Amino acid sequence: MAKDNPSKGFRVVVVGSANVDLEVRVPHWADPGESVIALAAERFPGGKGANEAVAAAKAGGVPTAFVSAWGHDTDGKLLEKFVKKAGVDITAVKKVDCPTGLAIVMVDPHGANVVTVIPGANERVHLTAQGAELISTASVVLAQLEVPVATVLDAAQAARAAGAIFVLNAAPMVDVPRELLDAVDVLIVSEHGAHELAKQQFGMYPSDEGSLLRALQRLVKSVVMTRGAEGAMVAAAGQDIETVQVLPVEPIDHTGAGDTFNGVLAARLAQGATLIDAARAATAAASISLSRPGAGPSIPAAAEVAVALSTGQVPPPSD
Ligand code: RIB
Repeated sequence: MAKDNPSKGFRVVVVGSANVDLEVRVPHWADPGESVIALAAERFPGGKGANEAVAAAKAGGVPTAFVSAWGHDTDGKLLEKFVKKAGVDITAVKKVDCPTGLAIVMVDPHGANVVTVIPGANERVHLTAQGAELISTASVVLAQLEVPVATVLDAAQAARAAGAIFVLNAAPMVDVPRELLDAVDVLIVSEHGAHELAKQQFGMYPSDEGSLLRALQRLVKSVVMTRGAEGAMVAAAGQDIETVQVLPVEPIDHTGAGDTFNGVLAARLAQGATLIDAARAATAAASISLSRPGAGPSIPAAAEVAVALSTGQVPPPSD
């Protein structure tokens, strides 16, 4: 589904959030008013935007830039090291005088999570002239909704002006203006998010997944619905709906698996893959992420994704 722009600079530009995740392993979910003692706690680099940018860059051969913001604090330094190590260009990341975004991520013994984000610097992410310049030569622009919606809309319009594919991961779900949806080429949404979006836009949602996807295609021509352990359903414009299965895996931690999916999908689209082929590679990468702890540290390298795609198995960590 390439919209080719021959004067490439950064092929993928991710516009979005950066957080440090305080990840707390809990023995079970606390009921309201109940306290539980954590099994372990660790700080990891994360944030949907940072995770996606790193996933796209690690997918291999796709120069990736990030438009974001973090503080001058130690969390900002941790994030800078994380994205730079993956080769992501950060010239359009602003350092601002407020705390870096922080996410409190609770993970249960099955790897399921509950996340609360304290946005901090993410509220100051705007599309600066530098960010717009990066987008003007991009093939794919990827955004989520952890930064101001006005910024995402600016990115979508800049992508459209550049002839780039604009991919929106509608997470976390907020009120999504129709003007933004009109500028989206590929919508990625969780099953829960798909229901919420359909309810928001149409006042109701169909009960079966296929009809839900077809309804969302009235908003955006190509829709990918991610379904956790059930894999993903892909409704590409003018095509039958296809399902992509997660590889066999015992999930350790769901955090960052969706972002890994989005980043790898964006990178593959930038390389000219069809949406279904991009979703296959993205699902293999997300399966690997599920088998590893943390968001940022769970994002696989291109070689690991290649092994997963050829063997149908999740490889063990290579480092
Ligand atoms: O999608 C996972 C991410 O969501 C975490 O890294 C956390 O920071 C939140 O943004």
